[in-house]
Amino acid sequence: MAFPPQFLDEIRTRVSVSSVVGRRVKLIRRGREFVGLSPFTNEKTPSFTINDDKGFYHCFSSGEHGDIFKFVMKMQNLSFPEAVERLAEEAGLEMPRQTEQDAQEAVQGARGREAVEAACILYEEALRAPEGRRALEYLKGRGLTDETIKRFRLGYAPNGNVLKTKFLQRGVKEDVLLETRLLSPGKDGRESFDFFRDRVMFPIFDLRGRPVAFGGRVMGDGEPKYLNSPDTPLFHKGQILYGLALARTAAAEKKEIIVAEGYMDVIALAQAGFAQSVAPLGTAMTESQLELLWRMAPEPILCFDGDKAGRAAALRAAERALPLLKPGVSLRFAMMPAGKDPDDICRREGPAAMAQVLTEAAPLSDVMWRQVLSEHQTDTPERRAGLEKAMYAKTGVIADDTVQAQYRRLFKDRLYELFRPAPSAKGKPAQRGKKGGYDRPTQMPGPISRGKTTDLTSGQRLRERILLTTLVTHPELQGNVEERLGAMTFADSRLDSLRQTALMHIAQNPTLDFEALRAHLANLGFAEELENLLNSDIYVHARFARSTEPLDAATTGWDHTFKLCQRAEVEADLKRAEEELVENPSEESFARFKALQDQVRPAGEDDGDESDLV
Ligand code: UTP
Ligand code: MN
Repeated sequence: MAFPPQFLDEIRTRVSVSSVVGRRVKLIRRGREFVGLSPFTNEKTPSFTINDDKGFYHCFSSGEHGDIFKFVMKMQNLSFPEAVERLAEEAGLEMPRQTEQDAQEAVQGARGREAVEAACILYEEALRAPEGRRALEYLKGRGLTDETIKRFRLGYAPNGNVLKTKFLQRGVKEDVLLETRLLSPGKDGRESFDFFRDRVMFPIFDLRGRPVAFGGRVMGDGEPKYLNSPDTPLFHKGQILYGLALARTAAAEKKEIIVAEGYMDVIALAQAGFAQSVAPLGTAMTESQLELLWRMAPEPILCFDGDKAGRAAALRAAERALPLLKPGVSLRFAMMPAGKDPDDICRREGPAAMAQVLTEAAPLSDVMWRQVLSEHQTDTPERRAGLEKAMYAKTGVIADDTVQAQYRRLFKDRLYELFRPAPSAKGKPAQRGKKGGYDRPTQMPGPISRGKTTDLTSGQRLRERILLTTLVTHPELQGNVEERLGAMTFADSRLDSLRQTALMHIAQNPTLDFEALRAHLANLGFAEELENLLNSDIYVHARFARSTEPLDAATTGWDHTFKLCQRAEVEADLKRAEEELVENPSEESFARFKALQDQVRPAGEDDGDESDLV
């Protein structure tokens, strides 16, 4: 029996040869191809190649050659219809049944496409008609050129039932319009009506560039901001990426694909010279979408808002990708400054700023590392063990052995870095290194000060923020401060992660300047914290923390703040020791009180000028 060629094509576009063969044969990427040991012969050197773009495999030792259907038939001993059935299921497609009714359905599918194409034209024309003036002004107001509007076939859906009236007049059947959701079924026996009304229209194209659905944006305020076509026989939201058909060529040329969050991001990116841009349709990334992306480029770059929601979305994408990683195949994560999207950056700051954000994209491994780190404290051996275990649990979900091994190795090295004693400024071994470095150095006598991080005063929190800000704005301080800063634990756990991460990153990249460090930390998900640190709230208290201040001012200011920090901690301890002494007078409590008192007022200490500080 004959399958419609479009149906087979659709399966071929959705299911890559490498994903099918990859289950049988271990594949290594080589340029745009994959190679592996032939499953048809017993060979030691790989002669089996796959080209996803062309959709075939070729075995040089046996001469075997074919597409996914042939491969599945060969490997699983299936008939052609059986192979089609299995792969259709994998592609998420319904099998066309060859009955009278099904033949009719195929015709209806073609009619559906025709109707959506006609709607696309209607909306495009309406945008240029008097009724579409406001919509056109809206798009122009958002910086889009005529060329861009044409390329993405943007349009305007008029108010009322314009589409319904026109299409019925032309003889288009109402059920076709309902099936493609150009019309909404009227409830309770009422008439059907235009689904999109008075909205700016963004057609959504299938992989071959044919419109199959729409997103419609309100101009100004209104709910929902974007109204999207629901899934229809032509449109499956989770299996399409907005802009993919238009992005394909550029993606292949540049070997890069950018994933933004919204319609306007894709369009603004394209206009700014990043034609290789796509977006999922307002939902979390699905596995099919990841597979589509990987057919375009080995390391798609996902752009997310640097805010909390954006970080969470990045994390979800990372988690979903983790099991699917292959040698050479991963994701990268570009975090925008909080509250900004690629559209904002391209338009307000220009393509160069966008390019910068993209080059600073963090690898997936960093995103994972950062996430697990932020969920754990590392101040006791047990907690460190907890962190270690969590790290390895994460790597455990990676299906590919080689990639998994590399992740384990990377995390192992980083854990070692994190826990090892910080080398001292002059290169002489740190004192606490002798004990293996796993314990925090005892700064204060007695157990009171240990593990105490929660009840610090706001003054202390401010001092901690100043110490961190100054280090970020002057990474050259590292050698001087890393031992002292490394031994601290900040009250705020996010800031404490930032403290550890910054120290570690500077240690690994000693020539970093402020901007590079800031960008890197922002990419690791600290954009929000950095915004709270690098601002006038801090600078009014500590002028020296500004990046424009000279290093010697920063050094003096840092040392001074650190002293105040230490003293505040001892004073808090002293206060508690005093309370304890009153409550429970003993030799021991007295001795502790006395020791602390001596620390607070040692003979002849001079703190100098405190006017610049809290
Ligand atoms: P955003 O709310 O971030 O909007 O939604 P945006 O893309 O920046 O849009 P503009 O710049 O205000 O025009 C991101 C994406 O989420 C989906 C859309 O795909 C949107 O582009 N979305 C958002 C919806 O589907 N419906 C909505 O009501 C809102
Ligand atoms: Mn936007």
